[in-house]
Amino acid sequence: MTNSKHPLRAVVLAAGQGTRMKSGMAKVLHRVLGKTILDRVLDAVHGAGVEKAHLVLGHGKDQIEAHLQSSPPEVSYETHLQEPQLGTGHALMQVVDSLSGSGFTGNLIVTVGDAPLLRAETLKALVKTHEEEDALITVLSTIVDDPKSYGRVVRSEDGKVKAIVEAKDATEAEKRICEVNSAIYCFKWPEAEAGLRQLKNDNVQKEYYLTDLIGWAAAGAGNLSCVVAEHWWEVAGINSRLELAEVTRHLRDHTVRKLALEAGVTIVDPESVWIAPEAEIGRDSVIYPGCEITGPVKIGSECQIGPGVTIRGKVEMGDRCTVLHSVVLDSILGDDCRVGPFAHVREGNNLAEAVRVGNFVELKKTTVGQKTNVSHLSYVGDAVLGSGANIGAGTITANYDHITKRKCNTTIGDGASTGSNSVLVAPVTVGDGAVVGAGSVITKDVPAGALAVSRAKQVQKEGWADKRKSESATSIS
Ligand code: UD1
Ligand code: CA
Repeated sequence: MTNSKHPLRAVVLAAGQGTRMKSGMAKVLHRVLGKTILDRVLDAVHGAGVEKAHLVLGHGKDQIEAHLQSSPPEVSYETHLQEPQLGTGHALMQVVDSLSGSGFTGNLIVTVGDAPLLRAETLKALVKTHEEEDALITVLSTIVDDPKSYGRVVRSEDGKVKAIVEAKDATEAEKRICEVNSAIYCFKWPEAEAGLRQLKNDNVQKEYYLTDLIGWAAAGAGNLSCVVAEHWWEVAGINSRLELAEVTRHLRDHTVRKLALEAGVTIVDPESVWIAPEAEIGRDSVIYPGCEITGPVKIGSECQIGPGVTIRGKVEMGDRCTVLHSVVLDSILGDDCRVGPFAHVREGNNLAEAVRVGNFVELKKTTVGQKTNVSHLSYVGDAVLGSGANIGAGTITANYDHITKRKCNTTIGDGASTGSNSVLVAPVTVGDGAVVGAGSVITKDVPAGALAVSRAKQVQKEGWADKRKSESATSIS
């Protein structure tokens, strides 16, 4: 929670078209290391301790609302329509009625929706300064090498912020300023509302700029204060796919540094791995080149991951696991599991300790007991495998009835084994310690301790091959 003395809310501006992305998808739904830009912003405002986030939506509103409904953020939120989109100041105007209607007075964080690396700590520092300096507006700026299209922070000779000038409206001298506007602010509310009411759109873009409130405050409306963010990339806005890639790289670098320096993880080739900050990796684990690890992933200590591993979603992995050239999605793996090379552990699996999933094996919604091996060329789906079982090469659970569209379950008991190339037609159970002969198609339950073989008996014809050879030699001569 925040230490703020006053109620705290946030407004997230996300109604713009994002023209420069050249995309059919709303800009804020593009993903940075597995999570949408918007969700990263919402995480930050949630972490700052806001009681509510007001989202201003316009372009792609339906897409964004559908996304929020299917994966709701932790923060409580309300959406507001901005139609047409007449600039960032106009966007904030759309929230005024809701704020005054609910009698909100306090600190109002306003942030653009396209700056996904924003951290809760930075917002807390912004609010802290805002309160300490009893400011009407506190703006978050940063220093960059290339100020690109950012608004420039113009200071007077005594160093006080005087105005923010948009790049498109800037003079040549202003364009050279490297302190830029993050478009993240804290406003004293409702006092700042008067500033919105006097906004004009007499600028190059004919928009109502939120940035003009800075000039308004500096001109005497109230205290204006400014916090300079330490790392520019923390507040970097994404306007194009190149910037999306750039921001993603920065988040990766930051995450790799933290894992290496704080968590004691060896990352063999930092440039080639893509690890989201949500991922937790235990001490003395090694991440080899070419891995992508995104989502709320938890990997234990002393694991060997990669090369060439994708781990996505809610994955929990114990200690001392090895995963090589494989894909692991939304699954649980106990200690000492070995996966791959070339295994596909799909969603919903729960592997106990020391399970072996070998090459060209696909697992889906399957629970596997400890020390069970599925070592080669198998598909096991909607199944429960006991412990100490051995699933022979090429075993298939035929779990899907295409006609009824039903998925059926397979159960294999402790210590049971299936021979190579067996098909288990679900629903079916193979009892504890039972054996399925190689090449069998199993359609009936196999009792514990039994042998089930379902294949044609082998036929032997003594001398058949030799006879055929000599016949063919005679016919050629
Ligand atoms: C804005 C700032 C600029 C700052 C930069 C930081 C203004 C006028 N400019 O510029 O000073 O350096 O952010 O990233 O504020 N939006 C709306 N409704 C609108 C227009 C925009 O909701 O009518 C939203 C967009 O969806 C976006 C955000 O506001 O999330 C910023 O808009 P964008 O067009 O990206 O502004 P910038 O040119 O980046
Ligand atoms: Ca932007």
